[in-house]
Amino acid sequence: MSTSKLIEFYEELDDVESSKPTPTGARVTKKRQSKKQEADARLFVRAQEIAETSFHFSYKAARFEEAWLFDSLTELAGRGWIKDVLRKAKVGKEASVYLCSPGPAARESQFVAAKVYRPRMLRNLKNDQVYRDGRIDLDGEGKRVFKEADLHAIQKRSAHGEELRHQSWIAYEFLAMEALFAAGADIPRPYERSGNTIAMDFVGDISGPAPTLNEVRLERNEAKRVFDRVMRNVEILLASGYIHGDLSAYNILYWDGEIRLIDFPQVVTPRDNRNAFRIFSRDVTRLCEYFARQGVDSDSHRLARDLWTARGYKSREDLHPRDLDPEDPSDRALWERQKID
Ligand SMILES: Nc1ncnc2c1ncn2[C@@H]1O[C@H](COP(=O)(O)OP(=O)(O)O)[C@@H](O)[C@H]1O
Ligand SMILES: [Mg+2]
Repeated sequence: MSTSKLIEFYEELDDVESSKPTPTGARVTKKRQSKKQEADARLFVRAQEIAETSFHFSYKAARFEEAWLFDSLTELAGRGWIKDVLRKAKVGKEASVYLCSPGPAARESQFVAAKVYRPRMLRNLKNDQVYRDGRIDLDGEGKRVFKEADLHAIQKRSAHGEELRHQSWIAYEFLAMEALFAAGADIPRPYERSGNTIAMDFVGDISGPAPTLNEVRLERNEAKRVFDRVMRNVEILLASGYIHGDLSAYNILYWDGEIRLIDFPQVVTPRDNRNAFRIFSRDVTRLCEYFARQGVDSDSHRLARDLWTARGYKSREDLHPRDLDPEDPSDRALWERQKID
């Protein structure tokens, strides 16, 4: 099945599986029931097909999840990145992360993480417009989408266009991870992307993933050390031409005293996005707020501006008044500060 057919197929099934009964009368319920029966029949057929193949995993998934996982991971297993799926490690906002044992290609990892985007989560992608500003769209292979029909579909938000948007979203995450890992950032080693899945080094152990920073309380000295390390990473990102865009204590894993930044699909390039500085300051501010709670004081505005200008970017130009919300106090404050700089 092609990736788009696959996503279409599972989107429908996911809808049926996840829909809650609504008290709107027998007609609707009947319709839903027949949809459910149809979905059940399709899943049954898929389960038979899967049973006849050579890739099987120990994790006991529900039927829908099993088929979705199987179709998402077979290629990565075939290429030797994963051998077995051991357990579901975490359900995130857009993706679920599975703890896998490594195949021969991922010998350096004790465990491999498979970040599998779920179809419904993809459809409900957080408002991606602000991140898309100045971005070119990438296809499943990470190459530029250039066909007029495809670009039009993306613009019109047709089903095909949405599928292309998703592909681009995941492509950006993987490409950014490759570039950042090569640049020496503290991120999990990325292995390969296949369709809706990214295989990477698993941070944690057999009992589960490393905690995120917001789940740990750091003693003051340790907090200072970790703060410096995080800021060093923010600098590496910027030097590589990236802003994380959703950086906070929720997207940093902490394990054996080391950190790993994760979750990159919304990365922004400073030169292309009109809101780049605003997005960058928001990342820095969120981090500073977290570290302030751990006893590390800093001036987030100054820090963001210094890091920004040190790379030769101009903060004022990047902050377009059109893109600010006058009703939002933090937007106003940011704008006021920009005016007097
Ligand atoms: N490489 C990894 N190793 C261990 N756990 C991970 C890894 N990547 C993600 N996770 C876990 O999965 C969760 C969701 O992943 P994330 O990339 O943040 O996606 P989402 O967009 O769904 O938030 C994370 O909060 C983290 O707990
Ligand atoms: Mg996340």
